Amino acid sequence: MALLEVRDLKVYFPIRGGIFGRVVGHVRAVDGVSFAVNEGETLGLIGESGSGKSTIGKAILGLVPLAGGSIYFNGKDITRYIGKNRSSYRKGVQMIFQDVHSSLNAKKRVLDIIAEPLRNFEKNTPKEERKKVDELLAIVGMSNEDALKYPHEFSGGQRQRIGVARAIALKPRLIVADEPVSALDLSIQAQVLNYMKDVQEEFNLSYIFISHDLGVVRHMCENLTIMHNSRFVETGTREDIYGNPSHIYTRRLIASIPDVDPHKREENESRRQALNDEYERLYANYYKPDGGVYDLRSATGSGTHFVAMPTDKGEELI
Ligand SMILES: Nc1ncnc2c1ncn2[C@@H]1O[C@H](COP(=O)(O)OP(=O)(O)OP(=O)(O)O)[C@@H](O)[C@H]1O
Ligand SMILES: [Mg+2]
Repeated sequence: MALLEVRDLKVYFPIRGGIFGRVVGHVRAVDGVSFAVNEGETLGLIGESGSGKSTIGKAILGLVPLAGGSIYFNGKDITRYIGKNRSSYRKGVQMIFQDVHSSLNAKKRVLDIIAEPLRNFEKNTPKEERKKVDELLAIVGMSNEDALKYPHEFSGGQRQRIGVARAIALKPRLIVADEPVSALDLSIQAQVLNYMKDVQEEFNLSYIFISHDLGVVRHMCENLTIMHNSRFVETGTREDIYGNPSHIYTRRLIASIPDVDPHKREENESRRQALNDEYERLYANYYKPDGGVYDLRSATGSGTHFVAMPTDKGEELI
């Protein structure tokens, strides 16, 4: 049984217009996606800006209203309860937010930032609380003295580690990590990812790891979903996606991973160009006339690899 299962999730935001601010339409930010996350595993959610990734994360945390779909946690339908504060579900599922500069309150000390979820859910004496905060700081490689400092006194990588410490304070089962390293230098990215992996092993945590970059998530994720235009264009295991990318959108994303080997740069540049051309040429085969994404279908009978494609063209496209 999966730890988290999401079925046909939809989130629509109202568009208001006119002098009375009436609702004149909706942005379909997430338009029917289904996925599951197993205990101790990482699911990567990949896609370009505006494709709906953060909205999926917020929907799982109950921070935006659902237009449709259902959410199961530990096999229980908790769709109607996700927004409720202080429920055991809200304790078990935490989020590391995309924008670390604004998600850590600048006026609060690190101690208060990390202790906030503890104060919401547990009754600790100040001494017990301080001990827990010190332990959490140690897990992400920071020191006791850091507890009394303010966010601006830290580098981006350290701030993100504070975000990790806060997210694990309640020993959650699942963390939605929204672009946790995108704002960081490459060298620091690896360091934060390593802390996230260590924490995962220690607590048998599951992650939903959101990123726009297939290169970053390669070593983090057992399973991946590729998102475009509010829907999934392809889902599969790490081997399915990197070894046999089948939707033109995924193929183009993989080609855009920068290559560190300088000798291969020219070769990669021409491969990238060829895939861009292929994307333009084959677009109409893979997308509906209005740009909509087709339903996912099993790729060559695989039980793990699914690709969005029209029912009549399947075999020739993959
Ligand atoms: N609160 C909101 N009200 C109205 N529209 C919203 C709201 N939040 C998101 N949207 C819209 O929903 C769509 C998806 O946004 P979302 O933030 O989920 O994208 P994203 O994939 O996380 O992008 P990025 O990579 O830039 O973070 C966008 O068109 C966005 O403008
Ligand atoms: Mg986002």
